[in-house]
Amino acid sequence: MFNGRDVISISDFDRNEIERILDFSERMVPVAKGDRYADPLKGKILATLFFEPSTRTRLSFESAMNRLGGRVLGFAEPKGTSLAKGETLADTVRMAAAYSDVIVLRHPREGSARLAAKYSEKPVINGGDGAGQHPTQTLLDLFTIRQDKGKLDGLNVAILGDLKYGRTVHSLSMALTNFDTKIHLVSPKELRAPREVVNHLKERGTEVSEVADLEGVLDQVDVLYVTRIQKERFPDPMEYQRIAGMYRVDEELISPYPDLTIMHPLPRVNEIAPDVDILPQARYFNQAFNGVPVRMALLALVTGMAEALGEEAGEEVAR
Ligand code: CP
Repeated sequence: MFNGRDVISISDFDRNEIERILDFSERMVPVAKGDRYADPLKGKILATLFFEPSTRTRLSFESAMNRLGGRVLGFAEPKGTSLAKGETLADTVRMAAAYSDVIVLRHPREGSARLAAKYSEKPVINGGDGAGQHPTQTLLDLFTIRQDKGKLDGLNVAILGDLKYGRTVHSLSMALTNFDTKIHLVSPKELRAPREVVNHLKERGTEVSEVADLEGVLDQVDVLYVTRIQKERFPDPMEYQRIAGMYRVDEELISPYPDLTIMHPLPRVNEIAPDVDILPQARYFNQAFNGVPVRMALLALVTGMAEALGEEAGEEVAR
């Protein structure tokens, strides 16, 4: 089921598979915190190929691999690799596959992870491909929602911000269609979610609303998922300047809603004021920590080493 499998798009996983990953991630929490020792990935190597900046995805994958006894090699930026000499992504991935057992790739081009998987003999995990997908972020988002609300069904989820370029939004909204959720997409009109994403949500039978501001939304929702405006993906910097700062969540806005869970994939810029951080419903730092147990579970599953942790990884997927 998972052994040898690529993790490219959250849509490649059904509800049953997502729930199995989340259940397994739950059992990884003591290991992720360093309270329990387990080294089923001893002798295994993770290659981290990051063509775009990252703090959480790269470091939590490294932490996950190290906590499970494995080793890590890779790069945090392409400078210093043979890409500077014109080597292709396909050849870079072939090499990484030869030197490791599993690859995490972050790349600015949508579709790059799928392409990498085509050329890799080892499982490829998408660590974010342009404005496309960020499936491991979504799994940790779902893990956090379930941790906080005790369920994934019967929830109203508002997603605020850059819904056009935000890959976490695309992945999360698609994943939520596996559950009984209503999705409120809240963004300036310039940053509305791509039509193909919205159509996908509706085709999957999910109730979706699209509005330009939070007024009238906050009193209906259980979760507010805030996102950053993706400055780096704007073709025109002037357009970014015009839109930046259009929305901001602060303590005054949030305090009337003590049961509202506030999430953010991070990094944040100005869209959540620091005065929200101390509110009990602010979950974004716990959310970022949850990247470690979730990525531990994924690494153990796709390398076929989950059995050592009491989990069935299933038959190897043909590559
Ligand atoms: N959420 C997330 O992907 O963060 P990084 O860009 O720091 O990896």
